[in-house]
Amino acid sequence: MGFDSLSVQSMSSTFCVLFFSFTFLFSLFSLLLFILRLKPWCNCEVCRSYLSLSWAKEFGNLCDWYTHLLRKSPTGTIHVHVLGNTITANPENVEHILKTRFDNYPKGKPFSVILGDLLGRGIFNVDGDSWKLQRKMASLELGSVSVRSYAFEIVTSEIQSRLIPLLSSFAAAGQEDKVLDLQDVFRRFSFDNICKFSFGLDPGCLQLSFPISNFAAAFDLASKLSAERAMSASPIIWKFKRFLNLGSEKKLKEAIKTINTFATEMINQRREMGFSNHKDLLSRFMASIDDDNYLRDIVISFLLAGRDTVASALTSFFYLLSQHPHVEAAIRNELERVIGSSSPHQQQVVSLEQMREMHYLNGAIYESMRLYPPIQFDSKFCQEDDILPDGTFVQKGTRVTYHPYAMGRMERVWGPDCLQFKPERWLHNGVFRPESPYKYPVFQAGLRVCLGKEMALVEMRSVVVSLVQQFDIRVADPNQAPRFAPGLTATVRGGLPVLVQHRGTH
Ligand code: HEM
Repeated sequence: MGFDSLSVQSMSSTFCVLFFSFTFLFSLFSLLLFILRLKPWCNCEVCRSYLSLSWAKEFGNLCDWYTHLLRKSPTGTIHVHVLGNTITANPENVEHILKTRFDNYPKGKPFSVILGDLLGRGIFNVDGDSWKLQRKMASLELGSVSVRSYAFEIVTSEIQSRLIPLLSSFAAAGQEDKVLDLQDVFRRFSFDNICKFSFGLDPGCLQLSFPISNFAAAFDLASKLSAERAMSASPIIWKFKRFLNLGSEKKLKEAIKTINTFATEMINQRREMGFSNHKDLLSRFMASIDDDNYLRDIVISFLLAGRDTVASALTSFFYLLSQHPHVEAAIRNELERVIGSSSPHQQQVVSLEQMREMHYLNGAIYESMRLYPPIQFDSKFCQEDDILPDGTFVQKGTRVTYHPYAMGRMERVWGPDCLQFKPERWLHNGVFRPESPYKYPVFQAGLRVCLGKEMALVEMRSVVVSLVQQFDIRVADPNQAPRFAPGLTATVRGGLPVLVQHRGTH
């Protein structure tokens, strides 16, 4: 071995040592800054309870504990010092954050870094000009009549050809005591719908005989692992694991690779076949965007936004319906009035116009999401020091969270009957009347309000009218209050086991 190669080798080992020492020291320094900022020494009652998990002795879910604290707070706002997080259930504050001072409360880097590997530059994960551009394009598309009727076609076909046959097979004679996980059914159902809507592709997840597709499994895993990043004690931990390609970060990388391969195939296929006569979102965006990576990012954001949210909303709706048979009876009466008849043995497709006339049904859907919002809380990052309308000071660089789950349970927002499931709350002289979106930020509100709200509502109304026409669905253990798994969207731990029967057969 010559001198030159020896010296090159020793230089490269010195470089390695220096590089790793620098990375290690830098990580240590960032960790220290992070810890100092969080004030982990805070010994107030809330922080002590948060850190020692003692809240769990009294409350089944973290969101129930926050609700309890927010109800006790005179302003409807609390501060969890160890998290550097101001949490509010005050509608005036929500309006301030989401509309009045929108520019001061972006999603922020801490959020976009967590979801960045999965979502890239997709609408769900960006602020500023990139967000504005995608928002403009997407609102034009989603607002068009042709997209809305395309969404309705997809949902109707999925209900008729898969959801009803599946439930019928469980309700068949001899199967009545067989338990079905309704949450799992709705997750498969909404994944099929959002994939068809976004990519024009049918993954066929609701056909239980089909193995779950690689893409669906990879998407599930990637969203779960990305959400888990948010739960690690410090971002430095997952970043370090990502750097070394270890454990969950390795799995996340592999899942994202599968998603990317699939998305690239879809985009290439569309380019070869021509996209101008396709109605899915990908084809529509391809008419104005050439960059394949950007196209992939935009469509993946829609998948994440539209999948678990709808499944979560439908799961809690049927949980509440099972406990309130009089609401189910009122929906059936309304249906009978609108479509003329409602024989339990005769499935009738209800049109968009007919569903629009179903004010009680709409009230019931809004009411169930008031008590069980699919996105229980949502955070922004404050750019410049600010004071919220209730007088709370918010320090630059800290997190601010509005909490739709707690807001639905605040007496001062919804009155003394706030914990009751009362669809009539939304009716005035029999006509559905929406509330201020700042009081009900289930779909967020202001400039970044959910783009899929109408589609989600059409999907929910269609499922409810189809299922209540034909089936009695009862939760297997009605006394079991939902316990939620941590994640971006409310998911019930252990699913929602139900018993399904054909109407009129028992
Ligand atoms: C019941 C169902 C749904 C609920 C409760 C819901 C709720 C929300 C919420 C709270 C946000 C704000 C999230 C944030 O900025 O952090 C949001 C954003 C969004 N939603 Fe939905 N959503 C639902 C269904 C859908 C569906 C079906 C689609 C797609 C077709 C969709 C597309 C979007 C998009 C694209 C955004 C990002 C908007 C932006 O950043 O400008 N959502 N949704």
